[in-house]
Formats: sequence, structure tokens, C-alpha cells
Amino acid sequence: SATVERGPDGVLAVGGLPVTDIAARCGTPVYVLDEVDFHQRARGFVEAFAGWDVYYAGKSFLTTAVAGWAVADGLFVDCSTGGELTVALRGGVPGERIGLHGNNKSEAEIAMALDAGVGRIIVDSFDEIRRIGRLAADRDVRARVMVRVTTGVEAHTHEYIATAHEDQKFGFSIASGQAKEALRACEADPHLDLIGIHSHIGSQIFETYGFEVAARRIMMLHAEVAREFDRELPEMDLGGGFGIAYTSLDQPETPERLAAALRAIVEEQAHDLSVQVPRMSIEPGRAIVGPTTMALYRVGTVKQVVLDGGATRTYISVDGGMSDNIRPALYGAEYSATLAGRASSAGAVLSRIVGKHCEGGDILVRDEFMPADIAPGDLVAVPGSGAYSRAMASNYNMVPRPPVVAVRDGVLHTLVRRETIDDLLALDLGYDPVP
Ligand code: LLP
Repeated sequence: SATVERGPDGVLAVGGLPVTDIAARCGTPVYVLDEVDFHQRARGFVEAFAGWDVYYAGKSFLTTAVAGWAVADGLFVDCSTGGELTVALRGGVPGERIGLHGNNKSEAEIAMALDAGVGRIIVDSFDEIRRIGRLAADRDVRARVMVRVTTGVEAHTHEYIATAHEDQKFGFSIASGQAKEALRACEADPHLDLIGIHSHIGSQIFETYGFEVAARRIMMLHAEVAREFDRELPEMDLGGGFGIAYTSLDQPETPERLAAALRAIVEEQAHDLSVQVPRMSIEPGRAIVGPTTMALYRVGTVKQVVLDGGATRTYISVDGGMSDNIRPALYGAEYSATLAGRASSAGAVLSRIVGKHCEGGDILVRDEFMPADIAPGDLVAVPGSGAYSRAMASNYNMVPRPPVVAVRDGVLHTLVRRETIDDLLALDLGYDPVP
């Protein structure tokens, strides 16, 4: 359903606009977001999970415009810092439609959330429970909180983005009894309004099985605390983490199938444990914004490297790299790439798309077959660049971060402008005395 097409001249077009035009007007590298696709994916989740609340995970990619779209599409917004919270509020998200996460929220962040009247703060430590209680008491309000628990599920994804096994920093473990202790601590504090249990098992996960096991375990905890507190907590969140296709080998679930599987587990558990189904929510980020955006690069050099055994690999250097997409270097993430600005009838050769940074790990696409006649000046598109690319971009090697532009019906809008070296130099104070 994405509005990305290849014209008869071989030029890719996004939202009716050829990438050659976009590159000419915006320069490269540039992230090109297909606005219609964003709305379709957002609404697709809202419809598939009808009756549940869908929180868009702002950490994946958030700007004021995106926050506004999220609200228009019926999403809530999940923030994990004061910065994201500020962008969401500035983008017009009502406080009550925001959830605040984080394993080390500062007092300022908690205060900002309380003052904005956020719908929920997801608590992650005993220190934080006390801190929120105190800040809520100062303001004479009751903070709506959820307790983040770890379910012990070993999600099949990269270690750095798995979050439900025991030995990591997030949440309160169910197995150790700390989850229940945390729920008791919240329940006992008159300035905390404990609304439910939260679980996020990790990110870029394909099997629904892990989500199902987590849902079963937190429904059991939910039923136990209902008996102990003599009331059923009104809400429950199953987190995000739904995988997307970065290469043709990835087989993601549809929102419909995810929704059906999760609904079935929650309803079956509610029945077996004699509790009501709480008001449910999920927090997808990547699955909404990831596929909507391609990164568009221009080729600078092409080099043949002779491998052991005499075969060659074509190294295609583009004008971006690990500063605009750290995911391959950080997680071994795989992407695909395609010649975007023209047709080619040349044979395909094994290629590696690399960046311009000064290290060997600066690889964007490890293995891809690209036309043998690829040359400096060609445009290369890397799909699936909407989530955690611009959001995690850096200025390594003093490289200004690329802009994000949105296309719809042939019309281009800038969401985030290109950084300039002057932006970076504005932070460089020379040798300025600290007062
Ligand atoms: N909810 C919570 C509590 C989370 O921690 C996350 C992601 C999400 C929801 C959204 O997950 P998603 O649906 O986008 O997978 N930088 C990594 C991903 C880190 C995810 C952190 N938390 C990457 O590039 O793969």
C-alpha cells in the first residue's frame, strides 16, 4: 500500500515525486517519508486493535508534525524522556494521551509529566516510586502509574534490544517477587493512582509466541494482585516490538494477526482466572514508522575489492553512513538497497554499501546485488529507514545530520531540516571560561 513506485525510466517515486527531484531539491543524504503510508500504518494498527489503545513509541521517530499525525490517526504517544515529551506536547498531543517511560527519569522530567497531566507514568524502580509519590504530593495530585514488569521471556532478537529476560536494567521481575512488591508500594501511596501492569519484551520480534507468553504471565500477576488488593487494576500494556521487513527474508506479522493472537490470550486468561479483561494497550514504534521512510544517498566512489580466492566485491561508498544509520554497526542489522535514480540493464554484482566515516564497520548494507554499472552520482535508496535511524543519528566525524522530508501527492514538506556545520560550530565555544 506504500506509494513508492518505479517509473518507466527506472526512477523511484515516493508519493508521486521522483527521487531525482527530491535529491535535487533537498540534497543527499535525505530521509524521505511517505506520508500516506504513515497514516495507513497508524490507522491499520488502530483498526486492528480496535477497543485497545495504541501508543506510538516516539523514540522510534518523533517530530512535532509526526506527533500531530499520531493524534489525528487516533494514536496515543509513548515518550521516554523530557525531550520527547516536549516534542509531543509541542506537536499538540494532549497530556492525557501521553505515557512517560524511562528507567531513570529525572525529577524535572517527572515534574514536567505531572504538570502536563500525562495519562500514565510507567515506573521502573523503587527509588522512582518514592520520587513520583513525593513530587505528586508537592503538587497535591495523584499520579497515574503503571508498573513495568519483566516476564522472563527470552525474545528472539539482538541482546541489546531484548528487555524481558532477568539480567537487564528494565522493570521489576515477576519471578523474584519484586513486581508484586512494586505494585504494593504504588498501591500504598495515596499520591499514586496505580492503574496497571506494563510489559515490553523487546524490539524487532517476529514470533507472536513471546508476546503471548508475556501476556499470560502478566494476566496471572494481574489476577493475583486483584485478589490481594480487592480490586482489579483497570489497565494493562503489552508494549511494542513488532518486527518489520528490512530484507526480503524477514516475515513480519500483520497487525490483524497480532491483534487476534493477543486478544485470544488475554480473553482466555481473563476467563480462566475469573477477572475482567482490563483496558488494553500496546506501544508499536518501528512497525508504524519504519517502513514509511527510505534513506536516499548519492554514490561517491565505487571500488572493486579482490577477495580470497579471486572473486571481487564491489564497495559502493555513499555520502552518509553510520552517523545516519547506526543500526548495522550496533546490532548487526541487515538492510537492502536499490539503484533509485535510473534504470540499469547491467548484470547484478555482489556489493557492499558503505558510508563515508573513518572506520571499517561503517557498513550500511553488508550484502546486496547492485547493477555492475553503478557509478559516482547514482542515487541509492535504503528502505525501512523510518525507525531508529534519524532518531539515533549522530554527528560523528562532524557530519551534519540529514533532513527528513515528507511527500504526499507530489508535495514535499520538511519535517526536520538538514543540519549545517554552523549548527555544529554554534556549540563549539572555543575556550570559554565556565562561570
Ligand atoms: N515500548 C517500550 C517500553 C520500549 O522500550 C520500546 C522500544 C517500544 C515500546 C517500541 O518498540 P518498537 O515497536 O519500536 O520495536 N534502537 C533499537 C530499538 C530500541 C527499542 C527500545 N524500546 C533499534 O534500532 O532496533
